[in-house]
Amino acid sequence: MKIPIDSARLEKEIDELSLISEQPAPVVTRILFSEADLRGRDYVKNLFRQAGLSVREDAVGNIFARWQGLDNTAPAVATGSHIDAIPNAGKFDGVVGVLGAIEAIRSLQKARFVPRTSIECIIFTAEEPTRFGLGCLGSRLLAGTLSSERIAALRDKEGHDLEHWRKQARLSGGDPAAVRIAQDTYAGFVELHIEQGPVLEQRNLAIGIVERIAAPASLRLQLTGVGGHAGGVLMPGRRDALLAGAEIALAVEQAALTSGSPDTVATTGVFRIEPGAVNSVPCHATLEIDLRDTQLASRDAALIKIETAAAEICRHRAIGLQLERVNVDAPAICDAALVQLVADICVELKTPFTKMISRAYHDSLFMARICPTTMIFIPCRGGVSHRPDEYSSPGQICDGVAVLAETLRRLAS
Ligand code: GLV
Ligand code: MN
Ligand code: MN
Repeated sequence: MKIPIDSARLEKEIDELSLISEQPAPVVTRILFSEADLRGRDYVKNLFRQAGLSVREDAVGNIFARWQGLDNTAPAVATGSHIDAIPNAGKFDGVVGVLGAIEAIRSLQKARFVPRTSIECIIFTAEEPTRFGLGCLGSRLLAGTLSSERIAALRDKEGHDLEHWRKQARLSGGDPAAVRIAQDTYAGFVELHIEQGPVLEQRNLAIGIVERIAAPASLRLQLTGVGGHAGGVLMPGRRDALLAGAEIALAVEQAALTSGSPDTVATTGVFRIEPGAVNSVPCHATLEIDLRDTQLASRDAALIKIETAAAEICRHRAIGLQLERVNVDAPAICDAALVQLVADICVELKTPFTKMISRAYHDSLFMARICPTTMIFIPCRGGVSHRPDEYSSPGQICDGVAVLAETLRRLAS
């Protein structure tokens, strides 16, 4: 059955949330626990409460909004995504999966559906890696994949740790590792998200059902050279940290281009230098490198190539190198039965779909470790994401919400 969705209300809420940003519209920036992120969280918590959901927040700021089912003891069905946004982002990444889930729940309520098992909408803390360089922080912790030592070592670029930011967010204390949840907490997790790639639009399809999520890895490199006066230090004696970093960035590109897999992608997305003055030789550089592939073997081979090249370049240029593997994750395999359920629903609703791979990572990467998981993708214009011109139409969003609502209805019946 096609549950009617209030597209205008959802569009209005997506627009309202997009205005809660660290930068003026159309740019959306909400870095974890920034003032804008906290206001965005309040905005969504308010919507949860207006929908009659009970809201709880764990020690790292994962937010859980529950529609209580008749059976208190059965594992809940979960949905949700994130509302944090990288610098210079758009308004749909993550948000469609949160506000769309609320609309799906409200639509089910309006259709007088009474859930047998509870339905929970989760807003995950820091899906984006901007604050600490590590993506999916909240879902990693829920899945129990980070040790207390690792959590304590997290630092942002100003040197602040998670504890500092938890205080800013007025979160209660407690061991962040203890937010971990048991394997049987959720009967299933289904995340609605924009595709962030061109496949659905090119094939004129409304829905992508995710079968696998590509394996991400990221590295942080600290390069230490010798600074000095840009006029006074002659070229032969220089140990310029930026130039070593520039060579490494080119080696990163080569590692992806020569991996033998068309799915290897590698990006040097952060490149900071110190002291950052035009008349001073850069003495220090920080690089953050993002590497992904659908195949673990080619991802890992490219990772080794990058690490080897970085060591060789730094040796050659007499630059100190500190290399940290921030994360090296396995791909996620989605639950076949859940994928088939969503496919059957698409057939029933006459919504054209395909099964596909997610090249972006999502909190589903970690939810898949603790419960049956899949994702519902909707098209986005030109495949564009992580940019202010990211766009999915109200009709495209509505199709995704309708499929999500019906999926939740089946799972919670
Ligand atoms: C998620 O934002 C990703 O970078 O894939
Ligand atoms: Mn993103
Ligand atoms: Mn996202």
